[in-house]
Amino acid sequence: MAFDKIIVVDDELIIRKTLEQQLRNRRYAVASASTIAECEAIMGKDQFDLIFLDVRLPDGDGTDLLERIGDDPDKPMVVMMTGYGSVESAVNCMRLGAFDYVIKPFSSDQIEVILKKAESFSQLVKVSRYLNTEGQSKSGIIGESAPMQDLKKIIRKVAATEATVLITGENGTGKELVANEIHRLSSLVNAPFIRVNCAAISENLIESEFFGHEKGSFTGATQRREGRFELANNGTILLDEISEISPQLQAKLLRVLQEKEFERVGGNKTIRVNVRVLATTNRDLMKEVDAGRFRQDLFYRLNVFPIHVPALRDRKDDIPLLASRFLEVFTRKHGHSVKGYSKSAEEALVAHDWPGNVRELQNTIERAVILCDNNAYITPANLGLIRMSRGGAEVLEAQSKPVAADAPMPSGDDTPGEGGVIPLEEVERRHILHALSCTSGNRTQAAELLSISIRTLRNKINQYRIEGIEIPEPAAK
Ligand SMILES: Nc1ncnc2c1ncn2[C@@H]1O[C@H](COP(=O)(O)OP(=O)(O)OP(=O)(O)O)[C@@H](O)[C@H]1O
Ligand SMILES: [Mg+2]
Repeated sequence: MAFDKIIVVDDELIIRKTLEQQLRNRRYAVASASTIAECEAIMGKDQFDLIFLDVRLPDGDGTDLLERIGDDPDKPMVVMMTGYGSVESAVNCMRLGAFDYVIKPFSSDQIEVILKKAESFSQLVKVSRYLNTEGQSKSGIIGESAPMQDLKKIIRKVAATEATVLITGENGTGKELVANEIHRLSSLVNAPFIRVNCAAISENLIESEFFGHEKGSFTGATQRREGRFELANNGTILLDEISEISPQLQAKLLRVLQEKEFERVGGNKTIRVNVRVLATTNRDLMKEVDAGRFRQDLFYRLNVFPIHVPALRDRKDDIPLLASRFLEVFTRKHGHSVKGYSKSAEEALVAHDWPGNVRELQNTIERAVILCDNNAYITPANLGLIRMSRGGAEVLEAQSKPVAADAPMPSGDDTPGEGGVIPLEEVERRHILHALSCTSGNRTQAAELLSISIRTLRNKINQYRIEGIEIPEPAAK
C-alpha cells in the first residue's frame, strides 16, 4: 500500500458508514467527520494520505477546505464527493487541486478504481521525491586543486542560467558528475532530469528514445511511447556522449534545439517542449566537425557554454583526497578493515598517469581494498602500481600507459610495441616483480605464488636483471 490513512467527510451518515466499511475492508486506517470543523480538528492531530470530501457540508463548502489544504507539500490527496454533479463543479474541484471526484450515489467499484489510481499516483510522487532528494544535498565532486576550484565556480555560474552546456573531457574525468551538479544547483532541480546515453542505444532505436513513437510505427512498437525529450519537458535532459549520434538524428536534434519541437516516430503531430540541454563528449567535437562527422550548426547550438573537465594527471593535487575518500567508500562497501596507504603506495598513486582518470583511480582502489590483507596497509602491489628504484618509476598495469609523465624513462625495453601491445617477456618480468613485491622480496614464497621452482625463479631474475631492484615495502607508516 502506498498509503494507509484515509478520512471520510460527509454529513450523510449512510454514505459515511458505507464508505468507511469499504475502506476498512481494504485494511486502510479510516477516520470520519461530519463537518469541516471536525475534519480539521482530526487532521490537526494526524497526517492523512487521502480525504473523501463532500462538497456540501453543514458548516461550509468542501471546496473551501480543499483550497486551504492547497500547496502543503505533505497534503493529502483529495477526492471530492458531490451530489449535485455538474460539470462546472467537477472542473472547479480539479482546478483547486482535487485528485479526483465522484458523483453521488456511487458504487463500490467506482471507489475501487479511484483507490487504485490514488495508490499508484502516491507511489509515483514518493519515488520522484526520493529520487530528487537523493544525493541532492551534497556535491559529489571531490577535488580542491586549482583547476577543480575553477571548475566548481563555473558550474555554479552556469547552473544559475538555463543555457545549453557542452561538457568535454577525457574518459572517466567526471563529466556526468558535472552534469548532475549543474542540475542540482539549478532552479530546475525539482523538475525532471532525464539522461540519454547516446553511445549505449542502438542506431535504429535512438530516434524513438529521443522523441518517442506512435503505436505501430515500427515492428515492436506495440504501444505509443513518449520519448526522453517529452519526459524532460520543463526540466533538463542530459545527452551523454553526443558525438555518437547519426547525421540524421543530428538534424532532428538541431530542430529541437532551435524550434523546440519534434514529431514522434511514425507520428505527424508536432510536439513542443521546453527543455534545458546538457551534453557531454570525450571527443574533440570541433575535429568531428572538420572531419564532416558532426554538423557544425549543431555544434554551435550545443557549445553555448563549454565546460572542460581537466584530466586527473593535470590536477595531481587531488589524488590523495580522492584516494582517501574512495578508500572510505570501498572499505565500507566490502566490510574490510584497511589501515591506509603505505608511503610507497601513496607515491605510486601520485606518480601514475591515470589515462582512465578518476574512474581508473576508483577501480584501482576498489581492487586494492579487496586484495589488501586485513588490517594492513595498501601496497603498490595491491594497487597494481609498482615503482622500481632502478630504471625509474613505472607502472605495472598492462592496460595503462606505462610511464608517469613526470618520471624518468626506463631503459627502453618497456615501451609497448606495435599497436600498444606489451611484449610477452615484459609481461613475465612485471609479473615476477609483482609476485616479489607481494612477498616482500621473499623468493621462496614468490616462487610458490608463481607455481615455479625456486631455481626457475632465480634464472628468470637473472634473465630479466631484476636482481638489486628495490622491492617496495608492503606497509610503511
Ligand atoms: N571529482 C570527482 N569526485 C568524486 N568522484 C568522481 C569525480 N570525478 C569522477 N568521479 C567518479 O568517477 C566515475 C566516472 O565519472 P563520470 O562517469 O562522471 O565520468 P565521465 O567523464 O562521464 O566518463 P565517460 O567519458 O567514460 O562517460 C564515477 O563513478 C564518478 O562518480
Ligand atoms: Mg559519462
